[in-house]
Amino acid sequence: MLTRPRRNRATAPIRAMVKETHLSVDNLIYPLFLVDGKNQEIEIPSMPGISRRSEDAALREIEACMNLGLRNFVLFPAVEDALKDREATYSYVEDNFYLRIIRNIKESFPESSLMSDVAMDPYSSDGHDGLVENGQILNDETLPILQRMAVAQAQAGIDIIGPSDMMDGRVEAIRDELDDCGFENVAIMSYSAKYASAFYGPFRDALESAPKMGDKKTYQMDPSNKREALREAALDMDEGADYLMVKPALCYLDVIHMLNEQFDIPITAYNVSGEYAMLKAACANGWLDYNKAMPEMLLSIRRAGASGILTYFAKDYATLVKEGKI
Ligand code: PBG
Repeated sequence: MLTRPRRNRATAPIRAMVKETHLSVDNLIYPLFLVDGKNQEIEIPSMPGISRRSEDAALREIEACMNLGLRNFVLFPAVEDALKDREATYSYVEDNFYLRIIRNIKESFPESSLMSDVAMDPYSSDGHDGLVENGQILNDETLPILQRMAVAQAQAGIDIIGPSDMMDGRVEAIRDELDDCGFENVAIMSYSAKYASAFYGPFRDALESAPKMGDKKTYQMDPSNKREALREAALDMDEGADYLMVKPALCYLDVIHMLNEQFDIPITAYNVSGEYAMLKAACANGWLDYNKAMPEMLLSIRRAGASGILTYFAKDYATLVKEGKI
């Protein structure tokens, strides 16, 4: 036998030397769910270890993360039903709790980076990402609402705007409006290839944002489609996106890989709530070893080509690194 690949795996230093993919805490973006009020930290049953937090609790969580070297966060509001309406007006009320918490996080932790979510669903009485009329999700009529939301978030101090709504033309609409309002340095991470996935269930529990009627298949992508992701990505790139995101991550590693080959801006991936819940459930049953399976999952997303990974595992991963366990 002339060739024995095992020789390159013989010792730990050799394995470390030939390692092709490195995953750092710097690659991770940690999602936080925010609620109004004080001293609230309510665990989401379908996402063990993840809570909805009021401002004080969120600031404590961010401090703990910053101490672990985890500095990128994406923030989602859980809005009470009474504040939701058809046009998602609460999303751009200047002193709404989401924008207030963003301001205060930026003030307390100026060295953190904050990403927002732009879509109507957390604020919409219809639970859809766009405006609903006669059972249809209106595209062009939704854009001005997204523009107002994005500008309000930029004013509050958001570094990266995250349009997750999948309306056509939204990246350009948001880019234009941000520039017109003097926010040309605020970036856009577009949810470019966002699939109509069954893996968002626990997130919708967290925000109580599930659609009241129908599904999201007229705007989110069909899980069967890969070439269509190229089209979405090319549009977002042309419209001024700074990052292209694939969502979910684990069932769509082929799409992450393809976009990374085809585009020269950073590719990011959203390791979504259902992917988190799945692993947590298996580990709670003793069927998988969390400290081994979780880093392997994240590494696979990185290996596929994502530079940034939005993941509920971020804090646990940073803790393992800090403890020298990986
Ligand atoms: C809202 C939004 C969703 C997620 C992120 N932003 C849900 C949806 O599109 O229904 C899902 C994230 C997750 O499952 O972790 N537009």
